[in-house]
Parts: sequence; C-alpha cells; structure tokens
Amino acid sequence: EAGALWGGRFASGPSPELQRLSKSTHFDWALADYDITGSQAHAKALHAAGYLTAAELAVMTDSLEKLRTAVSAGEFVALESDEDVHSALERGLIDIAGVEVGGKLRAGRSRNDQIATLVRMYLLDHGRTIAHELIQLIDAIAGQASAHPDAIMPGRTHLQHAQPVLLAHHLLAHAWPLVRDLERLADWSARASLSPYGSGALAGGSLGLDPQLVAAELGLSGPTENSIDATASRDVVAEFAFITSLIGINLSRFSEEIIIWNTKEFNFVKLHDGYSTGSSIMPQKKNPDIAELARGKSGRLIGNLTGLLATLKGLPLAYNRDLQEDKEPVFDSVQTLEVLLPAFTGMVATLSFNTARMAELAPQGFSLATDVAEWLVKQGVAFRDAHEISGELVQFCETRGIELHEPSDAEYQSVSVHLTPEVRSVLTIEGSVNSRNGAGGTAPAQVATQLSQLTARVTDV
Ligand code: ARG
Repeated sequence: EAGALWGGRFASGPSPELQRLSKSTHFDWALADYDITGSQAHAKALHAAGYLTAAELAVMTDSLEKLRTAVSAGEFVALESDEDVHSALERGLIDIAGVEVGGKLRAGRSRNDQIATLVRMYLLDHGRTIAHELIQLIDAIAGQASAHPDAIMPGRTHLQHAQPVLLAHHLLAHAWPLVRDLERLADWSARASLSPYGSGALAGGSLGLDPQLVAAELGLSGPTENSIDATASRDVVAEFAFITSLIGINLSRFSEEIIIWNTKEFNFVKLHDGYSTGSSIMPQKKNPDIAELARGKSGRLIGNLTGLLATLKGLPLAYNRDLQEDKEPVFDSVQTLEVLLPAFTGMVATLSFNTARMAELAPQGFSLATDVAEWLVKQGVAFRDAHEISGELVQFCETRGIELHEPSDAEYQSVSVHLTPEVRSVLTIEGSVNSRNGAGGTAPAQVATQLSQLTARVTDV
C-alpha cells in the first residue's frame, strides 16, 4: 500500500470499509503545520543522536519546509488512501526528499507520542487566540462600565426587584467570571506545555533522542514525566474543553440578560443595527441573534466536553484508537469560540443603555426596604425589629398603592415610632447605592476601585 505507515506483517491492504472508518484526514489536517514543526524538531534530535548526518538533516528540514508551503497553498492534500495527517505528510516528505532520507524520520517516534504532542501544540496556540479574544470582550464590558459611572438599575434576585445597583457594578459582574476564565487558560497552559515526544508508542525511547531538545524546539517547557501517561491521557484536552464550556456558559448568562433587557417590557438596551438581525416576515423586528447564538452554542460546547469525557471513561492504558475521537469535539469548541467571541464583543461594545428607564424602575417594587431596615439599625433598633417595621411599612404602602418615600410624617409614625421623617434621607436610589460602600459593594467609589482591580488583573495574565 503506497504511503501506509504499516503493512509489513499484513498479507492484504485494508478493506475499503475499514479505510472509510479509520480515516481522520478530514479533521486532523488542522494539525498539519504542527506535525511539520514537530518533525523538524524530531529530525534535530535524530541528528544530535547521530542518526542523521548534517547533510541529511538539511535535506530533511528543507523538504519539510517545502511540504509546509505546499500544504498551506493547498497543493499538497490528503489522498483517499492516507489514514491520517501523519501518514499523508510522511508520503509528502518522501516525495520531496526521497525515500533514502525521508524514510529515516520515523525512527524513535510513534504516532502515539506524536499526536499527543500535536494536540497540545494546537490547543496552546488556539488557547492564546481565545485568551486574546476574551481580553477584548472584558475591555468592551469595562468600557461600558466606565462610560456609565452613575447609572442606577434595579438589581434583582429571583428575577424580582431586590436592591438598586450601579449599572457599572452589574456589568462588571459579567466581566469577573471571564477574567477567571482567562486565568484558567493560563493555569491550564502551564500543565499543557509539556512534550510527550520521546514516549514512543507507550514504553519510551531506546535511541537516546533528547526529549529536552525537542520540547525546547517546540516552545514547550520540558518533556512529560511518564511515557504511558503521556500517550494515554487526554485530561489536558478535557480541561481545555471544560474551560471553553465555562466561557460558553458565562456568555450564555450574559446573553440571557441582554435578551430580556432588549424586550419592549424591559426596554433597558438598544442593539446596534450591525449586531442585530431582522425578520423575513415581520418588518418591525430587530432580534438579538448574537446573544441567542451564544446561548445556543453554550449547549454545543458543553456537549463537546461531555462527549469527550464519555470517550475517555473506562479506557485502559495505554493508547487506544478511541483517543482519535478527542479531536473533533475540541476543534469544534475552538472554532465555535473563535467565531462567537468577536461577534459578542462587538454586540457588547455597541450596546446603548436606556439609563433613564433603568433609573425609573430602580426604586420600584419596594427595593429600598432594606435601606429602611438598615437606617433603623443605625438609630439603635435591633435588626429583627427593624426588619419587621420595614416590612410593615411595605405592607402599608402596598395597600395604598404608594412608594416607601410617600407616606406623610404622621403615617410613618402610625407604622412605628422609630420611623421619623429623617428616614426619607435613605429613600432615594442614589442614597441607597452610595451607602453600600463596603468592599466589593455597589457604591460608586467601590465600583471605581473594582474597575482598576479588573484592569490590573487582566494585564497580569
Ligand atoms: N490518528 C490517531 C489519533 O488521532 C493517531 C494515530 C495512532 N494510531 C495508532 N493506530 N496507534 O489518535
């Protein structure tokens, strides 16, 4: 069989059915460039150990470079008979370098250590792209927060009015999880940056190839510690898929709010025309499709993770062909986020907020009742009683269809002797927000501090 990496012990070639099942070039072609870089590093190690002369190394390196150019130009492509990207590229190398030199590359290397290294290289690269995109999104959220330093909105629990908060505070609450995702990517990359090269099929190398040299050539921090683990484990891939799922979930939660805010009933935000879509039948529609796609794609990202986890569960050591199933889900997660994040960032950066509407709703639903109770505590009333008094005031106002600041002095007194007219001082949304000056609270001074903490954390990653 032309180009096959095995066959010596086989009397016949693979059946067409097996070939169709076994083939992975339609997705592992994404690793072609990393495969070539890995081969060049491996060739250096072969030369350093005396298996390639300087002249052979030069031929090998140049031929691989020519192959790289041919791959990126689309001139070298996989054939039906190529099992995977590794087999195809070896065929390509031998075409260019001749079998005499090209046939020497595979010494001391298995596709098992090779694929385990390449998938790490791919994920480290795309992890950096995703981190960069995340930073853009965090910047867009921080930009909206600093553009609205004073705007007040209804803060909610159980989707019910709870307490007024700064819009900036609420927006930054969506930025922090993304900062942690960024940090997760950085933590993960330290674990991922090890090179399985030299592990061979499972038992390690016997040719004295320097795994440190290969790792350094590939920009990885060193070789993996155990050749069986290195070829059999995919926790590095699963962890990456988990981080992408979490990013998806974080975008989805933000999306859900944007979708609600964009309804006629809420009317908190307007989407930019460039980041919203129309309806094919209803001319008036302007839909939040980016947010909906983000919410929908989070399901897909979770599916990729759980599918991969299910593949890994119960696999005996060391390499099993099941492991080939790691790539499509995680490649899909990468592509999904790389397309989604820039659109999401554009949507956030161009959102316009109806701050008047938010401020109008912020005090409704008796959202200042906690402020009444805490004002009473400051007057020396026990919180248990203060909570009771404030609750009675809510009931008094609710039955009369008025807000907490609207009773007369006498009416306040009829609810409780502790309710003097001074209580009105905390019954504004500004007073309420300003009073929440504890660390991490919604007072403008705290939110300004928070914004600079956020910026510093993102710069640190
Ligand atoms: N294509 C395989 C994968 O993606 C690597 C090749 C290892 N194949 C083998 N029969 N040992 O995992």
